[in-house]
Amino acid sequence: MEKKIMRIGVLGTLRGGSYIDIFKKLDGAVVTCVCENNPRSLKNVEHLLDDSIKVFEDFDEFIDSGLMDAVMLCNYFTEHVPFAVKAMERGIHVLSECTPALTMAECVLLCRTVEKTGCKYMLAENYPYFACNMEMKRIYDSGRMGKALWCEGEYNHPVTPHDKNMLAPGRLHWRNWLPRSYYLTHALAPVLYITGQNLKAVNCKAVFAPDTLKGTAAMVGDLAAMMICELEDGTLARVTGCAAWGGHGNWYRICSEKGQMENVRGSLDQIRVQYNSWHIPEGEEEVSIRPAHWHEDEEMNSLANNAGHGGGDFWVAYYFAKYVNEGVEPPFDVYRSVAMSATAILALRSSMNGGAEYQIPDFRKEEERKLWENDHDSPFPDASGNVTMPCCSKPDYTPTEEDFANAEREWKEAGFVSHETFLI
Ligand SMILES: NC(=O)c1ccc[n+]([C@@H]2O[C@H](COP(=O)([O-])OP(=O)(O)OC[C@H]3O[C@@H](n4cnc5c(N)ncnc54)[C@H](O)[C@@H]3O)[C@@H](O)[C@H]2O)c1
Repeated sequence: MEKKIMRIGVLGTLRGGSYIDIFKKLDGAVVTCVCENNPRSLKNVEHLLDDSIKVFEDFDEFIDSGLMDAVMLCNYFTEHVPFAVKAMERGIHVLSECTPALTMAECVLLCRTVEKTGCKYMLAENYPYFACNMEMKRIYDSGRMGKALWCEGEYNHPVTPHDKNMLAPGRLHWRNWLPRSYYLTHALAPVLYITGQNLKAVNCKAVFAPDTLKGTAAMVGDLAAMMICELEDGTLARVTGCAAWGGHGNWYRICSEKGQMENVRGSLDQIRVQYNSWHIPEGEEEVSIRPAHWHEDEEMNSLANNAGHGGGDFWVAYYFAKYVNEGVEPPFDVYRSVAMSATAILALRSSMNGGAEYQIPDFRKEEERKLWENDHDSPFPDASGNVTMPCCSKPDYTPTEEDFANAEREWKEAGFVSHETFLI
């Protein structure tokens, strides 16, 4: 049988740069085109481009070029769904950066579009594929730990005010409006991946501490979203969303019937496994700290070793090519992906309502989708700066004029120009 090679195009060349590099090296994929409308971002990938890769500025021309079987969406966080829908309506498979959808209505639309078009949709969530998480999944799947009872997932990403401003150039840039719960996949997806579970309900309280963000245009004064997610089998997961404090790093812990396992703090390739003294499997120790591996195949491991985000980026590309070329179902299909978006959205509402519980719809069921199909509330501004709901757990919070002035000075000093800065 002839080997299938997926032709892929990449939209957005900041984050997209990593994937152009990986897909170029991946057996089973060829990068045929990229789309970027900001010359400054395009410069980031100049060294990766050659005559075989066509560059577009305009998305419509790019998506109608006939050059791709699949597209990777590395565009703005707030605009993944409209672009995913346009691609699938043309029969083009979609790999989308995090998170999949901004509103409950978009979650519904994305599922319906996948069903209507028959296209393949996968979320490019990369943190489940750290070596520690892949190793913990193998142990979990072996049954030696028993069923999970509760889990923890932390993604802490503190940045200086200057770095925050460089990542979020312009008052309307999505990173200035990003509620802490909305960037939850890096904390939550590894827990779902390891346990194989789906989401059922969420409660959330936010840590409000705006002083640490002084000097930025962040409209969100929350530092972290403490979410308690109930999984379908009753397991509880405590996850942080993207916490802006707490020591940079990731930490995942699975507490189960027979013991617990976690990555060693500060390490993505070492895990600590601990069994109850009365549940130690034959040949195991009660407590061990051991190296974690991505895969048994060393050739695959060396490819992952050269990829970003603890090797996770490589596995995203690998699973997507397998999905498109061979039909192998990926860990995060459209239903599991939008359930994470719904958790993020409803968690923000919970944090504004005293931590009240919200049920996560089952997006496979049309009767549940109907209830949410018209819920368009979004905490992100449109091009004129209008929003339909607050982005912070304290709805009246905004940075001071001094904070805005500092951010604007830094954007100008860094040379951001008007089309990069979204109405500075
Ligand atoms: N999974 C991860 O580890 C990870 C890491 C970083 C970013 N991301 C995600 O990647 C996405 C992009 O983030 P980013 O860091 O690249 O910053 P960004 O959102 O500021 O940049 C987006 C880029 O896409 C381009 N773009 C947007 N719309 C376009 C259009 N219609 N036509 C042509 N070009 C367009 C912009 O010019 C810009 O260069 C976000 O969703 C973010 O959440 C994921």
